[in-house]
Amino acid sequence: MRTLFLLIVAGLSVAVAQPQTGEVHIAVETRKTALVIRVDKEQNPTIVHLGQRLSRPDEYARIPNNGKRGEDYTGIYNSAYTPAGSRNLLEPAIQVTHADGNPSLDLRYLRHETKPAGDGIVLTTVFLKDPQYPFEVTLYFKAYQNEDVIEQWSSIRHTEKKSVTLHKYASANLYIPAQHYYLTHFHGDWANEMNPSEVPLTEGIKVLDTKLGTRADLFQPPSFLLSMNEPAQEEQGEVLAGTLAWSGNYQLAFEVDPLHNLRLTAGINPYASAYTLAPGREFTTPAFLFTYSTTGKGTASRNLHRWARKHRIPQGEGNRLTLLNNWEATYFDFNEEKLTALFKDGKRLGVDLFLLDDGWFGNKYPRNDDRAGLGDWQENVKKLPHGLGHLVKEAESAGVKFGIWLEPEMVNPKSELYEKHPDWVLKLPNRQEYYFRNQLVLDLTNPKVQEFVYGVVDEVMTKNPTLSYIKWDCNAVIYNAFSATNPNPSHLYVEYVQGLYKVMERLRTKYPKLPMMLCSGGGGRVDYGALKYFTEFWPSDNTDGLERVFIQWNYSYFFPAIATCNHVTDWGKQPIKFRTDVAMMGKLGYDIVVSKLDANELQFSQEALKTYERIKNVIWQGDQYRLASPYAGDVASLVYVAEARDRAVWFSYLTKDRYKAGSVAPIRLQGLDPARNYTVRELNVFPGTRSAINDKPAVYSGNYLMTIGFNPNVDSRRTSVVLELAEAR
Ligand code: GLA
Repeated sequence: MRTLFLLIVAGLSVAVAQPQTGEVHIAVETRKTALVIRVDKEQNPTIVHLGQRLSRPDEYARIPNNGKRGEDYTGIYNSAYTPAGSRNLLEPAIQVTHADGNPSLDLRYLRHETKPAGDGIVLTTVFLKDPQYPFEVTLYFKAYQNEDVIEQWSSIRHTEKKSVTLHKYASANLYIPAQHYYLTHFHGDWANEMNPSEVPLTEGIKVLDTKLGTRADLFQPPSFLLSMNEPAQEEQGEVLAGTLAWSGNYQLAFEVDPLHNLRLTAGINPYASAYTLAPGREFTTPAFLFTYSTTGKGTASRNLHRWARKHRIPQGEGNRLTLLNNWEATYFDFNEEKLTALFKDGKRLGVDLFLLDDGWFGNKYPRNDDRAGLGDWQENVKKLPHGLGHLVKEAESAGVKFGIWLEPEMVNPKSELYEKHPDWVLKLPNRQEYYFRNQLVLDLTNPKVQEFVYGVVDEVMTKNPTLSYIKWDCNAVIYNAFSATNPNPSHLYVEYVQGLYKVMERLRTKYPKLPMMLCSGGGGRVDYGALKYFTEFWPSDNTDGLERVFIQWNYSYFFPAIATCNHVTDWGKQPIKFRTDVAMMGKLGYDIVVSKLDANELQFSQEALKTYERIKNVIWQGDQYRLASPYAGDVASLVYVAEARDRAVWFSYLTKDRYKAGSVAPIRLQGLDPARNYTVRELNVFPGTRSAINDKPAVYSGNYLMTIGFNPNVDSRRTSVVLELAEAR
């Protein structure tokens, strides 16, 4: 076979002839990164490079067989998609039982193609086939040129005489040789999301996974950072940031193989999920997203942020609404009068929208606490005798838009829905029911349930066309995973998520612009599968200002500020200035009793909202640099720099309450233009206090600010400081 080499330049593919080695090289390239697949003489697809793009693509053919320091007994330790059951000895990407009962699979290269797939996107498709069976796997690699992000998934199909059982069906299977590997993964629980752990990987397999069914990151989100050779720093070191775009059970396996190379398999969790694939049908896996950086975690995060804004999150480069939520102000205890007063408070504060939270529905079983009514989406006639339409109008006449909380995937056993449709609920007929927050999960694998869930939203929207926001909650996990109607019990976990996405797809087609918050009893569900449909997400019910510095810090490795909903609430003892400053590093909202604010607090909040309106685009669309880690010193510091590098908004917080704790030295800025000059001005100065920085305004060069730095003077009297840098013209 003639060896071809593909050079991809700005979305074009150029075939470059290579010497007759009998090998084919397929390079998936972005601006800086290359993933190179070598097809050997026997048509085995193997990965020989994942790292910096070479300037001479013909030299990919020279790469030795991927850092092998010993014998690879199979020749496929570095398979691009490792098939199980033939000669493989390591963790497979795919394991199947054929229609005839044969448990083996071999996958050989057939052909590949590369073509432009949109603005700055190149799609490479690699077709693989089992030589013995009409069984094919196609690997897809979408390379986002400017963002340096690769999105990888696979599809599986066959034309065997009967169904084939897929036991494992990964999205991606990567191979990375290095001296050492350090994995940063995250763990948590309710109100305690996204705690990082960094561990060196040794020989064997480290698995990150979830089996919760509906919401991965209650315990362990499907996102990680992998550093090669040295633990990665913010601005230096070789890092791969990866995340699986899937809202259900996932598995990420990191295997340091016998040659001390790292094999990564990422995909749906095979746990209890054998999938029966009928002839002629296609199974498409979710996408694994990754970005590779040689300049630390900071670049990796900025790549993902840019990618998410431009290519994934609805209106990622658009606007968001500030809001006042009533959850912590009223909990379930409200009526029309109370709410109407809150609309006025929202207007007085200066937000765009009022968000009515849980508790507005249910009549036979009124939703007066979290034990009843979930599933009965009719207005509670006692609390809201004039219905939602009346509230929408009242809010609008008070000068704010109106939004609403829904949790359409779930049901309380004490509900009319449960009484009418017990077979719509995931549970086992011969087992005790287990509840998570007193509720059960609806069977989204059932098309009738999908129709119901779609209908909940569609009805609210049809009756109230000016309703402007939906907070979509999901507070339970799946216990007793069993569907009364699904003929394939082991499809449940997969088809639950597919069912959810089907509903979201329909809703997004009908309501493409509707802002929707992805919420899950705090931050239990944050992934790029769901974020295809949601404009923003709720990182945690924990809104304590200090806690949030840490929680938001960790989410910011993967998710952009514009999608991160931060509300100012009464959790935490910090002054309102601290809580507001923290909430501004994302999409700002409030969940407080406005009438309880004193005059200074109200004035501060009103001014902060006006300031936010002016600077929000720098925070939402700018590049984020994490300057000082709350894990390392007394101060956390982050800056958002506008793409034009003419403006920046810089946040610093005191995170330790020790004697003399504070920013003792200047903090070095990043991302500015060294050749330009910047004024530094303090924002969010609390009424009645002075800013020494504003008293003596000065102009600094970007060079100075990035080399020497600037001390925001954070200390126990100034626990949070927001500075605006603007180009001095
Ligand atoms: C979850 C959410 C909260 C609130 C309650 C309502 O816990 O995370 O913000 O909406 O549900 O029951």
